[in-house]
Amino acid sequence: MQKVLAQAGIGSRRYCEELIRAQRVLVNDQVAALGMKVDPGHDKILVDGKEIKFPKKHTYVLLYKPKGYVSTVRDPQGRPKVTDLVPLSGVRLFPVGRLDYQTSGLLLLTDDGELAYLLTHPRFGVWKTYHALVEGKPSPDALKMLRRGVLLPEGKTSPAKISLLGMRPNNRCLLEISLREGRKRQVRKMCEFIGHPVVELERKSLAFLNLDGLQVGEYRFLNSEEVQKLKTMAVRQETNNRRRK
Ligand code: URA
Repeated sequence: MQKVLAQAGIGSRRYCEELIRAQRVLVNDQVAALGMKVDPGHDKILVDGKEIKFPKKHTYVLLYKPKGYVSTVRDPQGRPKVTDLVPLSGVRLFPVGRLDYQTSGLLLLTDDGELAYLLTHPRFGVWKTYHALVEGKPSPDALKMLRRGVLLPEGKTSPAKISLLGMRPNNRCLLEISLREGRKRQVRKMCEFIGHPVVELERKSLAFLNLDGLQVGEYRFLNSEEVQKLKTMAVRQETNNRRRK
């Protein structure tokens, strides 16, 4: 009982014990006792006559998405879905943003709409880093264009970080591309624009999260520190952006 009250932010564990001893807490209309078992999901708990609202517990999953999966919860064509890879009962996860069917890499899934909004809305400008294997070798001028922004049919892309990581067999090269926006097929369109189409694309990181320790198709849960850090980071980023304007 006292633990549940403390977790709901009523006060310290000791203070909550005092409330219970003073008979100021009711559970389902009965006076609560110290140490009694309660279920915040089902029991009605009142302190000084006021009902306690418990923040809903959310689930946060970091998936190493393989190629050949759609990042939507439904697919009219019946293709494999990323949610098939995270079979959790009783939780309705949805992907945070999208990776194309043929893109692999880091994808978050959650049932927390608020965090999904913070991570995908351009106003919060969260960095996402991709490795793109492209045809040919872009010139320094072409890379400069990508960094500054290129004019796509939907508008000019925001400044990006671009580095050429090296040449690969068959006259291809590997680019590292970091963006703060996430338009549909953006990396593919940007590379196409400079005449170096993408052959393979993988998202390596999102903010401070990366794929360390995961194999393709595997997932792990985010811990509470990571979730908290994502939330505060997005909000701080927005404040900085506003100051810069
Ligand atoms: N950019 C793309 O072109 N595709 C993705 O899946 C992600 C970013």
